[in-house]
Order: sequence, then C-alpha cells, then structure tokens
Amino acid sequence: MGASRLEQTDALFRKNLVIQRRACKTNCCLILFPLALCSVIGGLQIAINHASSQGGGGGGGGGGATPAIRLDCSCSNVSVDENALGGIQCPDECPLPRAPKWPPVVRTPSPEYRAVQDGLFPFADLPDASCRAEGSCPATFLVTGDNHSFVGSVIDNILPTHSSSVNLSADVSALSDFVLADDGEFHQSFLQNKCSPNLTLSYPVQYGNNVVSQDVRCTEGLVLWRDSSRLINDELYGGYYQGNRNHKIDEIAAVYDFLSSDQSNFNLIISYNSTNDYGVYDESEQSIPVINQAGPVQKPNLVQVPRLANMASNAYLHLKGNGLKMPFEFVKEMPRAAIPIHDGQFDLAPYIGQLPFVWTMELLFPVILTNLVYERQNKLRIMMKMHGLGDLPYWTISYCYFLLLSLLYVLSFVLFGSALGLTFFRQNNYGMQFIFYFAYMNLQISFAFLMTTYFSSVRTATVTGYLYIFVSGLLSQFMFRPYVEDSNISRIWITLMELLPAFSLYRIVYEFSRFAQAQPENYMASSGIQWADMTNPESGLAGVLTIMAVEWLLFLLFAFYLDHFRSYKDGIRKAAALVRSRIHGNHSEAAQQQNVQLQEFRASIQLERTDVLKEREIVELISKESDRSYSVICDNLGKVYRGKDGNADKIAVRGISISMSRGQCFGVLGPNGAGKTTLINMLTGFCKPTSGTAYVQGMDIRFDMDRIYTGIGVCPQDDLLWESLTGREHLLFYGRLKKLKAAALFEAIEQSLRSMHLLAGGVADKLVGKYSGGMKRRLSVAISLIGDPKVVYMDEPSSGLDPASRKNLWKAVKSAKQDRTIVLTTHSMEEADVLCDRIGIIANGSLQCIGSSKELKDRYGGSCLLTVTTPAGGQEEEEVERLVQSISPAANRVYRVSGTQKFEMPKRGMKISAVFQAMEQAKSSLDIVAWGLADTTLEDVFVRVAKQTDMSTVT
Ligand SMILES: *[C@@H]1O[C@H](CO)[C@@H](O)[C@H](O)[C@H]1NC(C)=O
Ligand SMILES: *[C@@H]1O[C@H](CO)[C@@H](O)[C@H](O)[C@H]1NC(C)=O
Ligand SMILES: *[C@@H]1O[C@H](CO)[C@@H](O)[C@H](O)[C@H]1NC(C)=O
Repeated sequence: MGASRLEQTDALFRKNLVIQRRACKTNCCLILFPLALCSVIGGLQIAINHASSQGGGGGGGGGGATPAIRLDCSCSNVSVDENALGGIQCPDECPLPRAPKWPPVVRTPSPEYRAVQDGLFPFADLPDASCRAEGSCPATFLVTGDNHSFVGSVIDNILPTHSSSVNLSADVSALSDFVLADDGEFHQSFLQNKCSPNLTLSYPVQYGNNVVSQDVRCTEGLVLWRDSSRLINDELYGGYYQGNRNHKIDEIAAVYDFLSSDQSNFNLIISYNSTNDYGVYDESEQSIPVINQAGPVQKPNLVQVPRLANMASNAYLHLKGNGLKMPFEFVKEMPRAAIPIHDGQFDLAPYIGQLPFVWTMELLFPVILTNLVYERQNKLRIMMKMHGLGDLPYWTISYCYFLLLSLLYVLSFVLFGSALGLTFFRQNNYGMQFIFYFAYMNLQISFAFLMTTYFSSVRTATVTGYLYIFVSGLLSQFMFRPYVEDSNISRIWITLMELLPAFSLYRIVYEFSRFAQAQPENYMASSGIQWADMTNPESGLAGVLTIMAVEWLLFLLFAFYLDHFRSYKDGIRKAAALVRSRIHGNHSEAAQQQNVQLQEFRASIQLERTDVLKEREIVELISKESDRSYSVICDNLGKVYRGKDGNADKIAVRGISISMSRGQCFGVLGPNGAGKTTLINMLTGFCKPTSGTAYVQGMDIRFDMDRIYTGIGVCPQDDLLWESLTGREHLLFYGRLKKLKAAALFEAIEQSLRSMHLLAGGVADKLVGKYSGGMKRRLSVAISLIGDPKVVYMDEPSSGLDPASRKNLWKAVKSAKQDRTIVLTTHSMEEADVLCDRIGIIANGSLQCIGSSKELKDRYGGSCLLTVTTPAGGQEEEEVERLVQSISPAANRVYRVSGTQKFEMPKRGMKISAVFQAMEQAKSSLDIVAWGLADTTLEDVFVRVAKQTDMSTVT
C-alpha cells in the first residue's frame, strides 16, 4: 500500500521547500516588490512635504514653532472653541470631489442680542426688552421703499406662515417653503410671521454617512417699515458703539430697501451683516475650530444673501398673484481638487488613485497561475500522481504555499506602506485590512486554481494572467468606479460586477482609500475604516466580503472538481460508471456493458492469428477468475480519438487483450503510430480507454486508478523532472511517496543511483537542469524502480543512451524484474531480445503477434537471409540469382540495390554447408565482392509483421 496522506504531504512539503529555497531570489524579489512601490510613493511624498514645509514656513506668516495654519481636512482631534468666530469648518484647501447640497439659510442674531426697545433703539414698534430674558425676541427685518403702500403689501408675504408642525423626513422637497435660520452658534430654527407654541419642522440632514432627522423650532420674525433708508442707516449706525456697549452686537437680521419698486418693476437693495459670513477665517486663532461632532451642521456662508433675495422675490410674485413661485431648494459648492494634506502632511494617495494598489495586490495572480500551469504543462503533476501522490495532499500543500506567499506579500505591502506613511494603510483599522486582504488573497488563489484547468501552456498562462490584471485594473478604474460613485445606479448591478474578483478587490481598495482620506463633503474626520463601517450600506464592504467568501468556496470546489475529473464530460461519465458499478456490485459486469462497442473491433480483425486469439481466450478466462498471478490484464482495451472539425474518428487501439504475469518483462513493439504509447498511456491513467478495460493487480483502471498508482512505477517517454532539483532529491521525494523511511530510504536511493551509474562524478547531487539527455533518462528509470513497485511501465527507457549506459540499464532492469511485471516499449530489437520474456507486436492499433522472442523467430523466421554483393549493373546480378535458385528453388529475392541482393531461403531441407560450398565455388567464376548468411532476427520478424499489416490494410 502507498504512503498515508500525511506522509505524502510531508514528502511534497519537503520537495517544495527545496524548490522554493532554490527559487529564493525570485521569491524574495516578489515579496520585496511592494517595498519598491511604497518607496516611490512614500519618497515622493516626503520630498514634497520637505519642500512645502520650507516654502510654507515663510508664507504662513506665523513662522516659528507653531505651524501657521494647519490645513487639516480631517477637522478632528482639535478642541472645540465655543467662542470661536462663527463656529467652524474645514479649510477650503480640502478637496471636495462631490459637493453636498446645503439648504439656504438666513442668518439671524442670537436671541439675547436681538433688537429691543432701549436707549439705542427707541422705536415703539420694537419688542419690549423683557423678551431677552426669555430668549423669545423676534428677529427683526427693517424695510423701506419709495411707495409705502406698495411695499407694505409686499412685506406681509416675506415670511411664510405654517400653523402645524411638519415632518419632511420622508420627502424633503417642500423644504423650500420654509425659511431656515441660523444664529451662528448651532441654534437653528425656521422663520415665520407667527409661531404657535411647539411648532417644529423636521427635515433630513446628511451627517457623516448617516442621515438623521433634524428638528428645529420656530422663530418669529418681525418686519418693520421705516420711512427712508437714511433713517435706517442712522438707526443702525447710531446704535453702534453707543451707550455702555463694549462689544459689537448684531441686532437686526437684514434690511430691505425696495427703492422704486411698484407693480411693474422690482428693485431691491439688501443690507446684511457681512461679518456674519462664515468662511472668513480668523488667522489669529491658534486652534482650528472644528465641527461640533455632537450635532448636524449647516454651512451657512453659502446662503445669506441669496435666501434674503429669494424671500423678497417670492413675496413680490405672490403679490402679482398669478400663482408663480420661485422655490429655492439647495445650494452647492463647486467640486474642487485641492492640495491634499493630511495631518499637516502632504498625501499623495488621492493623486495616485487606487490603480497602483489594485495592480500590486493582483500581481501574485499570474505568478500563482504560472506556477500551477508549469506543473501541468510539464506533466509533473500527473507524474507525481502516477507515483501515488493523492489529490488532497497536492492541493493542501500547493494552497498553503501560495497562501503563505500571498500573506507575506500583503504583509510586506502593509508594513512598508505604513512605515513610509501612506494614509491608505495607516488610517484604516489594521484588523479590517487583514480580514479583507486575507479574504481576497484566498479568493485569488482559488481563482488561479480554477483558471489553471483552462491552460496547458505556461506562456499562454503568463500572458493571459498579466493581461487580465492589466485590463481588469483599467476597467475597474474607468468603468466600475463611475458606477460605484453614481448613486442612481442600482446596487444590484454593482454587486453583479463585484462577482469578478478584480472588481471586488477594486471596491475594497476604493472604499479603504475613501475612508482614509478626509471626507469634507460630510465634514467627517478621516477616521479611516473601522469595524462599524463594515455594515455601512454605503461602503458595501459586508457585501464584498460575502461575495468573496462564497466565491472562494465555489471556485475551490469547482477547481477541485475539474482537476479531479479532468473535464466536465469525463467527470459525468466517471460518476455514472461509478454509480453503475456500485449498483451491479461488480466491475467486470459494468465493463461488459461498455464492451458492446467493442464487438465492432473484433469484426474488423478478420484474420486474427492463433497466438493472438489464444491470448484473448486466456484473458477472458482469467479476467473472470481474477487470477492473482497475473499483474496486468488488458481486456479488449480500445481507444478512439473523436474526430474534430469534421474529421473521421481515429482508432488508436483496437481491442487489445494481453495478460502479463509477475516476474515477467513484457515488450511492446511496433512501428511509429502503431498505438504503443496510447496503450501505455491508458494503463498509466494518462488517458481513459474508450472501450474495454485493464486490471492492474486486480484493480480496474477505470475506477481504481488512485489505488493502482500506489503500486506502480512509471518511466514516461519524456523525462518529467524538476529542473531545480537534484537527482538525489527526486529519488528522495518519490521514495517518500512510496513509503520508504529513514535508513531504508537512503539505502534504496544509494542502490538505485549506483545501479544507474549516477553516482560517478557527483552527478546525483547536480541540478537536473544541468543533466544530459542520457542522465535524465537513467534518472527516470531509477525513479520508476524506487520503492519496489509491483508493476513498472517503461516507455523507451534506453532512447538516447550510449551503448555502455544501455548495457548497465539492461542489467538493472533484468535484476529488477525478479518479482514484478515490467512493461516496456522499445524500438531497439536488441533490447527487446535481451530483456523481454514475452513480446507483443502492435501494428495499426491491434496486436499482431505475441510470444517469446524465440517463438516469434521460429514462427516468422522459418528462413535465413543470404546477402550477395557483386559489382553493380553487371551480368553478375542475374548469375547470382540463378545460382541462388539452384541452391534453393524456393528462394525469394527481398532486396536489390546497386549490386547488393538479399535472398530469403526457407530453412527446411537446406543445408548450410551446401550454401557455403556453392558460394565458395561461385567466387571463382563470378565477381563476388562479399557475401553473408544470416539467421532471422527479431528485426526481420518486426519488419515482416509490419509489412503484412500494411498490406492487409491496403487491400
Ligand atoms: C403706490 O402703489 C399703489 C399700489 O399699491 C399705487 O396705486 C400708487 O399709484 C402708487 N403711488 C405712486 C406715487 O406711484
Ligand atoms: C419625522 O419622521 C421621521 C421618519 O420619517 C422620524 O424618524 C422622526 O422622528 C420624525 N420627526 C418628528 C418630529 O416626528
Ligand atoms: C454682525 O455680526 C457680528 C457677528 O455675529 C456681530 O458681532 C456684529 O455686531 C454684527 N454687526 C452689526 C452691525 O450688527
């Protein structure tokens, strides 16, 4: 029995370790690649920061130790200064990729400062000073104009009136019917002519990534007529700096001067307190005012005057009375790019975008793909399988290796990136990063495993792999990204697109970098991504993670399925056969059903010779009894290659039945294209038989290949070896797979190296990449013999060997065949003669004859060959022919070229001495240059059999 899974895993692990150690340079380069990228970005960033800190020191004015103005888009971790001018905001130097909408707001004085009757404002129409204590003073608007009666009717409509509370959370479209007001200290309200108690307005406000319902109370507005603008001017100017007031107070909300407005024209001057405007940045302030994180925030500097003008215009339109309205819903800043600064540091990341990160993350994909396809293309995978390596250990080890590589790669990316100060890594929660990168790397590996099954050439795989990451990167940047950013596109489409691993990766990187950068549109600190953002529907990260996890599992299962069953159809067929055999409980019975097709083959073999027929009978007998002394039984094995592109099917092997017993070396001979290699390939599981089956050690090749593999050795026609392993390491690996251990393993290796003459000159410890063809060949044979397999297949083992090595090889094979079956194909008749106990000659896909070398020679070689050479073109040729006829009347000329003739003479009734005598006599009369007499060789048998088949197929 073969090695256990654990032992196989161990063997494979050790082998891979050696290979990886050899490929250390490449691996290190790979892992250090992110360093190069991060260095470039980080270096650039540091250089720019250095340059800007020198330039900025002078320009900032403040100079010295304190930074002049910290341009901080994050607006976080700075203390809130309640008295700071106008509250707060992030500086305009911050980028604004998607400007948010602000409702227009009117600026009103704070309740405690609103105009009341006092020494400064003695006007009787102002409210009593007692309202200040209650905080219920109205916001006062002063109005004037040329035509009092006309303006008087206009101003009645300046402030709207709503009598009940309104909740606009569901639909914000009616917000323009309200005049929102703000006193600059986060007291928001809406202005009305009259306020009933507990009148509130609720409307949605985007706050960070959340939408909250903002409730504001009603503020009463007072619109007062003054006779002229001069009076207003005096009133305001006079109120300034008078009395005991020691600081400036804004008491009047705004002033309207309607000038000459009348029914047909509308003319307006608005006076407002420009110091009220936010956005005027007080440079004397050392600390930066910040957004009050406790509540939603308006950005009022956008809206003062337009809203005031709009109120007057609406009042005018209302007066005209034709139902016209000018709703003023939102204002928006222009989007802007700005010098991205982070914590006072220049951040290059927004300029670079996500593409380099995505490409770097994807870079391992072609590497993994190439690695996997290499083992496929070079058939190393199947070679390992043929020596008993199960699928599971192979998968486990390969997967773990690539996972380790990927994790190291990502780790180096994150470490170097963080060290060099890239906010992309620094700002985001490392736990989140780990989860997502880990998930993506797993997905990438399983994706590569899946793709491997579609490639057979390393070069195609490499090119396709790199092309994939290049194109998918560009696609995600220029196609996928706009989709993500467009909130009008259904998220379902985004989810569908994220099914492509490249897009899901892009989404992760996109969200991470979005969170890492400041989000001035929401006045949010760049807190980076946190666990809480996982479930945030806008980030869509939970969805991406789910997609990746599910896909990873599916890809892996699918890849395993494809790999295990080669191709879909095969898989289904195999499964069906398995089920059938389970039902019938007997393999041979299931085989019988499949064999129906084979009757055709039988019919096509018209003249099956007695030896072949006899062999077929033996096979039929023993396959029923499952005789244990036969280790390989081919039962009517057939293979048809389905014709492609309208070509006819090609029958490669037509129902061959052979039995091979233990301790026997069976030689398979045949001209090129006769079907020998197809036969061996079927026996070793390279390809599936179309009909019939074979039993190796009593196990059916259609069902039990995995178990068969544990007991066979294969020396394939091409040397399937790893260039970066030594001969000894090959034997170590395969020996371990064959369950050899410790001392026994080393002894077996030593012995097989010696028998194959691979010890001399330290050949065994050289890399196979440096071997000559002959050395590789000998190593392949050694591999096939290690671990005492019961059945060994050797496909032309001696091709390319010099005569001395060939002799050694023969010796080794001869001593190896003691208690095992060796199946050998060869073109060397000498080899077959020396090694093989039985020989089968295959031509045109079917077995032509079978028997020992001697039997074949006797059967086919009942004659000997006489070769006579005379000068070309002379009379002598006919003379010689006549002479030969006289020696043996049945002689037959088989060959005649420029004076050399070959005659075949039946041995029966012919004396060799007579031939010699006749020839010696003839030499005196004829000009015979040379002559010779030879017994039939295997070669003659071969040539004759091949010729006969050719003739029979022609006729
Ligand atoms: C003032 O407006 C009223 C209409 O509201 C109009 O009848 C009157 O003629 C106007 N007065 C002047 C002097 O234009
Ligand atoms: C307004 O409606 C929203 C839901 O649509 C609700 O969350 C909010 O509490 C409501 N506000 C008031 C004041 O009723
Ligand atoms: C304008 O507004 C500022 C800030 O609120 C205030 O200090 C100032 O007194 C106001 N000016 C007038 C003339 O009301």
